[in-house]
Amino acid sequence: MGPWPLDPRGPQAEASTFVYWILFACAIPILAIVCGSLIYSGIKFRERPGHVAQQIHGNNMLELIWTIVPTVMVISFTGLSWNKLNDINNVDGGTAMTVKVEGRQWAWAFTYPDQQMFKLQDGSTLITGEQLDIPVGAKVKIELTSKDVIHSFWVPNLGGKKDAVPGHNTSLWLQADQPGTYKGQCFEFCGEGHADMLITIVAHPQNEYATWAKTAIDDANRLNDPRTKAGRDTFLASACVGCHTVKGTPAAGKVGPELTHIASKANIASVLTPVNQENLVKWISDAPSIKPGILMPRFKGVLTDQQINDIAQWLLTLK
Ligand code: CUA
Repeated sequence: MGPWPLDPRGPQAEASTFVYWILFACAIPILAIVCGSLIYSGIKFRERPGHVAQQIHGNNMLELIWTIVPTVMVISFTGLSWNKLNDINNVDGGTAMTVKVEGRQWAWAFTYPDQQMFKLQDGSTLITGEQLDIPVGAKVKIELTSKDVIHSFWVPNLGGKKDAVPGHNTSLWLQADQPGTYKGQCFEFCGEGHADMLITIVAHPQNEYATWAKTAIDDANRLNDPRTKAGRDTFLASACVGCHTVKGTPAAGKVGPELTHIASKANIASVLTPVNQENLVKWISDAPSIKPGILMPRFKGVLTDQQINDIAQWLLTLK
């Protein structure tokens, strides 16, 4: 759902929304009173021949009213915001898990806590891109940083907005009260791909979170399998990543088809059936000769036969 700030689904977002509605409810009558009296006075007391405007300079009652009323209002709003801010900014009180989030042009990377639950075969910790999975009802601390320019992390249904600043750590916390999918967006213009810096937070019921983690770890282990590592490394180091997305890796290109489950597809680009080693090698080597006019370039000559073979082998693990 979202991104929409006035539909809070967690305590963080509720606090901000509460302050917003109070300010909004006060602002409407003030706007009506100020603009109304302005228009009324403008018409009623406008300059006319033989008419002298009534002078109110030195009217103590009026001056007291328009000094005291705004002062009381500003002090109340400050008190209210201060009260809520305290809780909004308290990233340390009772957080259940800490996720490190790095923004870069133009994607987010989420590093899960250094716990057994998120450990991969090779000893590293689970990292995902674009999507962050959290348990329902848990206070999640988000530690933000940036690799290049200033980005801004914003998932309005769950929490506030915070800048991700290069060379500097900032943090916020958020919590989902119900299971669901919550959309967010980078909120600081950061270059031409700014609009593509989406965030998806999926909240799982507490008792299903471990199952989700297990699946995510299995997927990540498959992607990192040492037997197909050569192909994976070549794929990620070559032009492939500029056009194709493989979930669970830094490959996030949007020009070509997503390859996350390429090995489960019936065919390659509707022209080569089935998806097997031989066809993948043919396709990567010289796609334009198989499907004229296609954007995918010829890789024969750019990559060695061995490299093309390795990539095909790795792609076949993407079920
Ligand atoms: Cu990152 Cu806008």
